[in-house]
Amino acid sequence: MNLKNKKVLVTGGSAGIGKALIAELISKGVHDFAVMGRSKEKLEDLSSEFKNANFILVQGDVAQLSDIVKLVETVEKKWGSVDVLINNAGVISTGELGRISDEDIVNQININLTGLILLTKKALPLLRKSEEAGIMNISSGLGYIAKPFYSVYAATKAGVRHFSEAMRRELIFDNIHVMTVFPTATDTPMMITSKIENMDSAEWVAQKSIEGLINKEINVILGGEQRLKDIDTNFNHPLEMDEKAKELYESYREKTEHHRAM
Ligand SMILES: NC(=O)c1ccc[n+]([C@@H]2O[C@H](COP(=O)([O-])OP(=O)(O)OC[C@H]3O[C@@H](n4cnc5c(N)ncnc54)[C@H](OP(=O)(O)O)[C@@H]3O)[C@@H](O)[C@H]2O)c1
Repeated sequence: MNLKNKKVLVTGGSAGIGKALIAELISKGVHDFAVMGRSKEKLEDLSSEFKNANFILVQGDVAQLSDIVKLVETVEKKWGSVDVLINNAGVISTGELGRISDEDIVNQININLTGLILLTKKALPLLRKSEEAGIMNISSGLGYIAKPFYSVYAATKAGVRHFSEAMRRELIFDNIHVMTVFPTATDTPMMITSKIENMDSAEWVAQKSIEGLINKEINVILGGEQRLKDIDTNFNHPLEMDEKAKELYESYREKTEHHRAM
């Protein structure tokens, strides 16, 4: 895909991986971005940080249907079409299932999955107007391999993986490439309350994701060869992964105990 002068709609572009994706896209010739996030201040910082880009900034929550409609209507009025939709906004709340609040359970599902599906639905007519369109959905390594204490988050990210796969096939006769990115732990504001070390940088994740978009890859799976082997083991020999979970149980518990970015 040639990204030059494409119009890109990205949710959660005001921090972390989303913001790094914007920087990477600018380096590939993109000038026009529509960004949705809940914090107005964080959104407004984008204009001063990336002076060579044009922004449509829409304050809103991807879990609110009315905000999604507002976003799509604004973009339609200003652009008339969308070339690339990046469904990146996401939240996390981990720990033993019984200790995750009911509110955090519902909100993780609504933000990470329901909102992503609804925005895709509402943005499709605009993507269909593009000569060459793409949808990039940000899942997670946990969307392939679920770990203890990440039950709800992992469920939303597996949902993203499956939704992406179905849409890729549903849109097979449209000129819309659908791809999914599976980052491992990445050093962003989302990870401040986790106790995970040696994370990938958001810039590196963005670089690999955009490389994948340009090359029309369907899955960008980060985490190296070992991750690919683990995915294979998890599919073909799940009990082996259960044994690994048993060995690392306390370490997982400790790392996830206070991990919350909602
Ligand atoms: N960091 C990791 O280790 C990692 C690993 C695998 C996958 N991922 C996935 O990568 C994506 C980006 O994560 P990140 O680490 O960059 O997170 P982050 O640093 O917390 O940034 C999240 C971005 O999404 C926005 N956002 C959150 N909830 C939103 C909502 N309801 N509506 C609209 N915007 C919302 C945030 O802005 P506001 O708060 O202002 O709304 C922010 O711009 C997420 O889908 C995450 O699940 C992250």
